[in-house]
Amino acid sequence: MSRIVLGVGGGVAAYKSALLLRALTERGHDVRVVPTASALRFVGAATFEALSGNPVATEVWDDVPEVAHVRIGQMADLVLVNPATADLLARAAAGRADDLLTATLLTAHCPVVFVPAMHTEMWLHPATQDNVATLRRRGAVVLPPAVGRLTGPDSGPGRLPEPADVAALAEVVLTAGAPALRQDLAGRRVVISAGGTREPLDPVRFLGNRSSGMQGWALARVAAARGAEVVLVAANVEAPAPFGVRVVPVGSAEELRTAVHTEAAAADVVVMAAAVADFRPGTVAASKLKKGSAGEPTSVDLVRNPDVLVELVAARRAGQRVVGFAAETGDAEGDVLAHARAKLARKGVDLLVVNDVSAGQVFGRADNEVTVLAADGTVTPVPAAPKDVVAAGIWDAVTADPTGSG
Ligand code: CTP
Repeated sequence: MSRIVLGVGGGVAAYKSALLLRALTERGHDVRVVPTASALRFVGAATFEALSGNPVATEVWDDVPEVAHVRIGQMADLVLVNPATADLLARAAAGRADDLLTATLLTAHCPVVFVPAMHTEMWLHPATQDNVATLRRRGAVVLPPAVGRLTGPDSGPGRLPEPADVAALAEVVLTAGAPALRQDLAGRRVVISAGGTREPLDPVRFLGNRSSGMQGWALARVAAARGAEVVLVAANVEAPAPFGVRVVPVGSAEELRTAVHTEAAAADVVVMAAAVADFRPGTVAASKLKKGSAGEPTSVDLVRNPDVLVELVAARRAGQRVVGFAAETGDAEGDVLAHARAKLARKGVDLLVVNDVSAGQVFGRADNEVTVLAADGTVTPVPAAPKDVVAAGIWDAVTADPTGSG
């Protein structure tokens, strides 16, 4: 359980802060909401009080004996400002203390995360960009806004990321600190494959696997939060797009292969987190296979699918990083690391993210634990943690890779 101050700025996206508050309390955190006066024109204090179980104040003159403007900031483990309007970013950058939220920002010793939401023009204005740069220079996390539908009919950068994304990223900062969301992927193009492919047998049946896609989703969310332009090639994952990233849905290994190659052509980093079927049925029945029919199958003939990762390595441009995933168990031939090292060399990847699956089932779990191997022999253990925290550890290894463009 952590103590979180949820600052709410006065923009229409403030309505999403009620859902974020809910997501944070469901994760077990104690949340104190500090809205600005204008935020309360969009969402009532009663909503925040009922959902948080804590009193809500906007001014330093409320509840003076508690000296709230000092105590709230001092006691917090995280201050999360969602949405951060252009005005709030300006006041925070200027170090003003003209309401309870800005006073709290000046007394907080903990990490501070701003989640901006505003119209594209306001976000791109040099005044706002300077304020963002100032806040980042001082160590605050200022997330890039998501790209998408804004208030009214227009769309572009400026959209508030969904509450589930912000809650997951807040967990990353609580666990790994503000540097886990630094902007080291700004300007980079990243392609991530996620999920599990389905190889059709007939119009209704397929051979599939249990990959949930959630580690790939977390990688995409954290990469976008660290400034990257992300494309997620998603094999059979129903979840909403993380952080508004572009999702290219695919079904079979062949569809995934085509999509990944198309997207990888302009990418700086390609991460193959998908569980790609190694085999597919040699023939796909045009109509449903029926029991008792003349053509009733007794076995399935399989043919080998191309190894997309190996193809990516062969097509790799100068400076492009190719990252593979491997699920390994130790056996008489060698331990998990020995097998992983052999696979890294065999596939020619720059980095291999290794899951030790000796202990059994890993699919669909909320937590993960991996080791990242680099081609130069560097071994980076990423300890057991929620998948978004693990994703931040994997991106640390990618950007630290001395041979890489990071
Ligand atoms: N992969 C791929 N194309 C395939 C199969 C796998 O790109 N047809 C990628 C996966 O996305 C992952 C990595 O290769 O990044 C996994 O390697 P793989 O050789 O499939 O692992 P295993 O199936 O465990 O291999 P082996 O049976 O050789 O240990």
